[in-house]
Amino acid sequence: MHSIRFRFFAFIAALLLVLLLLLNTYPLVSSRDAVYEEKRSSLAAAASVLASSLAGLDRLSQESVAEVLTFLDISGYSRILVADRGGTVVYDDHGAVGGRTQIADVLTALDESKTVFRSRLEEDAFRSSYAAPMSAQGAITGAVYLCEHDSERAQIIYGIQERIRVLSVVIGVAALIVTGVFVFGMMRRLQDLVRSMRVVAAGDYAYRHAVKGRDEISELGQEFNQLTERLETTEKQRRRFVSDASHELKTPLASIRLLSDSIVQSRNMDADTVREFAADIGHEAQRLQRTTEDLLDLSRMDDGMVLVTEPTDVSRVAEDALVLLRPLAKERDVELRARLEEGCVILGNPDALFKIIFNLTENAIKYNVPGGSVELLVRVADSSVEIEVADTGIGIPEEDRLNIFDRFYRVDKARSRATGGNGLGLSIVHDAVQAHAGSITVGPNKPQGSKFVVSLPRATKEETGL
Ligand SMILES: Nc1ncnc2c1ncn2[C@@H]1O[C@H](COP(=O)(O)OP(=O)(O)OP(=O)(O)O)[C@@H](O)[C@H]1O
Ligand SMILES: [Mg+2]
Repeated sequence: MHSIRFRFFAFIAALLLVLLLLLNTYPLVSSRDAVYEEKRSSLAAAASVLASSLAGLDRLSQESVAEVLTFLDISGYSRILVADRGGTVVYDDHGAVGGRTQIADVLTALDESKTVFRSRLEEDAFRSSYAAPMSAQGAITGAVYLCEHDSERAQIIYGIQERIRVLSVVIGVAALIVTGVFVFGMMRRLQDLVRSMRVVAAGDYAYRHAVKGRDEISELGQEFNQLTERLETTEKQRRRFVSDASHELKTPLASIRLLSDSIVQSRNMDADTVREFAADIGHEAQRLQRTTEDLLDLSRMDDGMVLVTEPTDVSRVAEDALVLLRPLAKERDVELRARLEEGCVILGNPDALFKIIFNLTENAIKYNVPGGSVELLVRVADSSVEIEVADTGIGIPEEDRLNIFDRFYRVDKARSRATGGNGLGLSIVHDAVQAHAGSITVGPNKPQGSKFVVSLPRATKEETGL
């Protein structure tokens, strides 16, 4: 955490340093170079004018050169020196004449017949010098030497430099402060988020992170809150499931204890009563067995276990279920009709499909009225196979329709108990349908009762291997 903050800050600071260094050097270097160029051309021009004017003289002397200079009106130079072919100084406005010149550039100009230019920016001024040979009819006749001392330009450049420096410091400090505020603000928000995560990780699923603003960090916070919400829901479901499950197991166990205690405690119970009680105990045990089997089924599907699938004819599976359900329908005085189409083949798990059809049809019979009817349809619809179970029974109130697929949910607890249900059938149906990538809907049946429709993706020709 600290290291990201530090790295980010260091990166920005380094970037800033490079930028400011560039700002402090580049403009100065280039403007200084421009001044050098300008000096070279102005000195070259003046030297060439002077050289060509002096070439016209018969004899070079202090006086004749001075005369030409006044005539040319060459001024603004800190030193003007003219030497003859042999290097003897014939004119110098800043020194003695007659002696051999010691200035190396003048000697180079004479000996090698070339110009020598120098320019330097010193503390207070640009110091430039220019030495050029003079010639007449192709022969070197001497050399001129000009020096210039320009403090005005130097002051301007130094002034600009000073201003850039001040500006750099201001920009640098401001940028660092802004970056600092930004980075620290961002880090604080991330740290807040981490703190929220710790609170939730410690088990407080009702906690919500306070989301501020509308940027990426806020988005992160929102995502985190959604995750927490899902976690909270799952946790609630888990708790309710455990308490429901233990309740469901507790009731038949209590009955068994009560019945067995009665048998043990009453000494002179007649054999018939004992048998009756034992039968009841068997009944409750059967009920326990069913509940635990259903729970195992559900937990197996919960684990996301991949169903072993094979091309399965849903109509055949429905026939098997009907064989088991007909006695129940007869017992309840419910008419059970079925229309099972041919070619309803899907890639599915026969056991899971059996559970879907069995549970839906069993419910339709159980929650029916004497003299009522149940209609089971298996048909092909476009790219899916549909299972429709419609009954003329007691129906499901609209407000309960959302919940009937929840574990242990029963619309009418008392009635369901009497019919032996524990509210797991539709959960198993729901999970099995999902495992087949299908969908299930429930609605009212006309004029009364309920209608469940399951839609399962039909197997393609290649999948069925036909
Ligand atoms: N066809 C139906 N008509 C009316 N009510 C229904 C119908 N099917 C389901 N229900 C209601 O939905 C509840 C949940 O059904 P589900 O099959 O999950 O549980 P169950 O039948 O009570 O018990 P189980 O199927 O586990 O033995 C039932 O208790 C019942 O109240
Ligand atoms: Mg049921």
